[in-house]
Amino acid sequence: MTTEKKLAEVVGLDVGTSRIVGAVKRGSEEAIVESQLNAFVSLPHTKLTGQSLVREGIPHRLSGDQIVVFGNESARMADLLGREIRRPMTRGILNSQEADSHHQIQEIIRTVLGENTSPDAKVCFSVPAPPLGGEDSLTYHEATLRQILEQLGFSDIRAVNEGVAVIYSELEESNFTGIGVSCGGGLCNVAVAYMSVPILTFSVAKGGDFIDSGAASVTGELINRVRLVKEESFHFNGHFSDKVQQALTVYYDDMIAAIVQGLRDSLGTTRSVPKFGRALPLVLSGGGVLPEGFRDRFEKALNSVNLPIEISEVRLARQPLEATARGALMAALSE
Ligand SMILES: Nc1ncnc2c1ncn2[C@@H]1O[C@H](COP(=O)(O)OP(=O)(O)OP(=O)(O)O)[C@@H](O)[C@H]1O
Ligand SMILES: [Mg+2]
Repeated sequence: MTTEKKLAEVVGLDVGTSRIVGAVKRGSEEAIVESQLNAFVSLPHTKLTGQSLVREGIPHRLSGDQIVVFGNESARMADLLGREIRRPMTRGILNSQEADSHHQIQEIIRTVLGENTSPDAKVCFSVPAPPLGGEDSLTYHEATLRQILEQLGFSDIRAVNEGVAVIYSELEESNFTGIGVSCGGGLCNVAVAYMSVPILTFSVAKGGDFIDSGAASVTGELINRVRLVKEESFHFNGHFSDKVQQALTVYYDDMIAAIVQGLRDSLGTTRSVPKFGRALPLVLSGGGVLPEGFRDRFEKALNSVNLPIEISEVRLARQPLEATARGALMAALSE
């Protein structure tokens, strides 16, 4: 007779401006990774719309006389209606302009983790580093996410810096020594670690949203539409006659330059430049690194500045959209 033992569950959660990603590991099984867009759109409530959403399995909830559609499908729905999507987070942290953001994030986390995740699970969630030159406090953001997770029933909760999570996920073979970069929707997060110990973390307040809104404003397109074009067809090194593609290149280059300069300045002002005694690998992750040619463009920009440390290689994360969640899972597992 075999006794059924409940498998211990561990959860890594990437609470991003653009997407919420959950990596759930049960016992020795492979981690299961799920994600949803961290966005919503509301529609007038009719019985027919409600039934259609249920039939298609699209996440939604009722709110007064409105149906709120959230997660992946909200973008297409907003595009069809010619509207912008609404976002519970902005620039890496909770959006104080959206009254319903806590509730909405909670619903999306619940959808991503599924009904079966046990409240006994250990949970580690990602938080950004403070922006360079900014005074934004992350205390409120982190404490509120903790509260949201507690309300979902979890009690074993901790936070991990996003750039450090990328290092945990991608740099095991260099003994967690190197540089992790996550190019997200709201921010780009950077961390430098030596044998898993964070030496330096910062964020740059330029991410995908900055690129989208910049390109939208110079072309007169809706932001959500520009984002869809960027995700479907943008790549570097094209000779574009298309105005949107050309504008995307300009704002992308601006973002890359800000990361590279941030790295140079932060390493430069660290009182003594860390003596790593070896060249460091740099890993690029996040949805922003997906366009073809991004790695080359980044490496070129990196080579054009004088860094006080040596870089051994610049490479893409194995699964750029999952690196933060998988790293948060590693952090939870290593506790
Ligand atoms: N295939 C793609 N090509 C280009 N860009 C993409 C692609 N897929 C996603 N993106 C962009 O990546 C960004 C989202 O990346 P990611 O999911 O890593 O962000 P996030 O973790 O939610 O945000 P943050 O870390 O800033 O809080 C968005 O700007 C999105 O438009
Ligand atoms: Mg992110």
